Amino acid sequence: MSLNEEYVDSLYGSDADLERVKAGLDAHGMPQISVSEGYGRLLTMLVRMSGASRLLEIGALGGYSGICLARGLQNGGSLLSLELLKPYADVAKRHMTDAGLGERVDYRVGDAKESLAALVHEGCQFDFFFIDADKEGYLAYLDYALQLAVPGAVIVADNILLRGRTTDETKQGPAVQAVRAFNARIATDKRLKSTVLPGYDGLAIAIVKG
Ligand code: SAH
Ligand code: DHB
Ligand code: MG
Repeated sequence: MSLNEEYVDSLYGSDADLERVKAGLDAHGMPQISVSEGYGRLLTMLVRMSGASRLLEIGALGGYSGICLARGLQNGGSLLSLELLKPYADVAKRHMTDAGLGERVDYRVGDAKESLAALVHEGCQFDFFFIDADKEGYLAYLDYALQLAVPGAVIVADNILLRGRTTDETKQGPAVQAVRAFNARIATDKRLKSTVLPGYDGLAIAIVKG
């Protein structure tokens, strides 16, 4: 983290629900790759400011971003979270419940591309998307989000800088190439208005034009 990122994080006291997630990730041998603290706070703000009530998360891990997203919900809203690994979804659900948000969330276990295809087939719609699963899948996830979005929906994606690999021309692996293509699409797709924040590991924020 940069000094500036450490400074802004230090302004905030520790958050018991989110600390519990981090401890739970270690306890279950899961990776510490939750969304950054600053972007977690931003997720809560974006959900609240947009008034979104039907949230879709792609990539649950231990529920850190799920807690941040669900905290932004107002009465009646809910979060659907797609996660490849059943044990991870179970851990995430536990942490959501411990944070008092268990009633707000449902999990669909399996490859997100299959879950997304099913959601399109079922005619589901969402007004907020958080893309944070395998980076090779980002373009497909954006396409599905556009199919599932109501006009004005918000689409957020984490890790668009890949800890420096995105801007390192010597890196040409599939995840890096996919994220570069994703970023170019976010910036230029006529159906979207967007910005890309370069702090932490980079965050793309778009709205689907009405
Ligand atoms: N959003 C979480 C972090 C997600 S880490 C947070 O900030 O708290 C990425 C997650 O995506 C991991 O849990 C991983 O198991 C999941 N994942 C990877 N490939 C996937 C796929 N094809 N479909 C669904 N989930 C996937
Ligand atoms: C990493 C970080 C993430 O937030 C994520 O979703 C996937 C991977 C990482 O730092 O490797
Ligand atoms: Mg991430």
